[in-house]
Amino acid sequence: MEVNSSPNAVRALIQQARREGAIAGVVPTMGALHAGHASLIEAARKDCDYVVSTIFVNPTQFGPNEDIDRYPRTLDDDLQKCEAAGADLVFTPDTSQMYLPDAESDVRVTGLTQKLEGERRPGHFDGVTTVVAKLFNITVPDKAYFGQKDYQQQLVIRRMVMDLDWGIEIVTCPIIREADGLAMSSRNRYLSAEDRQRSLVLHRSLMLAEQLAAAGIRTAEIAARMSRLIEAEDGVELDYAVVVDRSTLVPAADDAETGVALLAAKLGKTRLIDNQELRFR
Ligand code: PAJ
Repeated sequence: MEVNSSPNAVRALIQQARREGAIAGVVPTMGALHAGHASLIEAARKDCDYVVSTIFVNPTQFGPNEDIDRYPRTLDDDLQKCEAAGADLVFTPDTSQMYLPDAESDVRVTGLTQKLEGERRPGHFDGVTTVVAKLFNITVPDKAYFGQKDYQQQLVIRRMVMDLDWGIEIVTCPIIREADGLAMSSRNRYLSAEDRQRSLVLHRSLMLAEQLAAAGIRTAEIAARMSRLIEAEDGVELDYAVVVDRSTLVPAADDAETGVALLAAKLGKTRLIDNQELRFR
């Protein structure tokens, strides 16, 4: 496995592999890798001949009150995980290699980015789309892998790729969970033992949503029951729990066949998100 922090060197390596006929897949990450990230690299390994993972803690997607300074940085461990999962190349740029100090361009998706996470984290998705656009332009992959864990993010990236005619296939991979149901996240390590226990209510509320959907309960009622369950848990501050259309994120119609339950909540200083796709009876 090669490790390289130079955009030009990485572009040349991938170009070379593709000239030799390889299908190239890229897995963008911010490091602090866990089994969820590894599953994306493994999925790329199955589909592609040349697998690139990128590790870059992107400053432009963090808000002024967010946790960029305390975002975990575990490069040695990350590289081991990339290698074990089957990466051929890991791109590890620093901020000065990614952003010109006088940059004047960005990539913005409207509409989809105004709701839910975008509404709570102004500018967040502009940072995500801009850095992912740059990573796509540096790596020029055939396929790119994202987690369903960040449901809105993968939709925003799909929108961007369609709107800008990128011709990159976006693959969304399932959420990897701890044995007790908590969705894996780089931020879970900040949870106190008590909050870690309390966090289980989030997955419980998604399982409840699944049961209610299968039982034919209406979407607004499902969202309300999820909210009540989460709000009843001491120390868990619900931000939102909604049941929405899987591609537009507007509230799911009562006669819809499918939807997705999305939620965000804070435990102490740690904000967690999770989701579950639903099939209505
Ligand atoms: P990061 O939070 O490091 O996540 C990298 C990728 O791993 C994302 O596609 C995310 O959805 C996926 N992922 C995280 N937890 C997962 C889990 N439990 N199961 C499956 N996949 C999971 O998302 C970002 O970084 C950044 O916004 C990025 C796209 C790299 C742009 O900076």
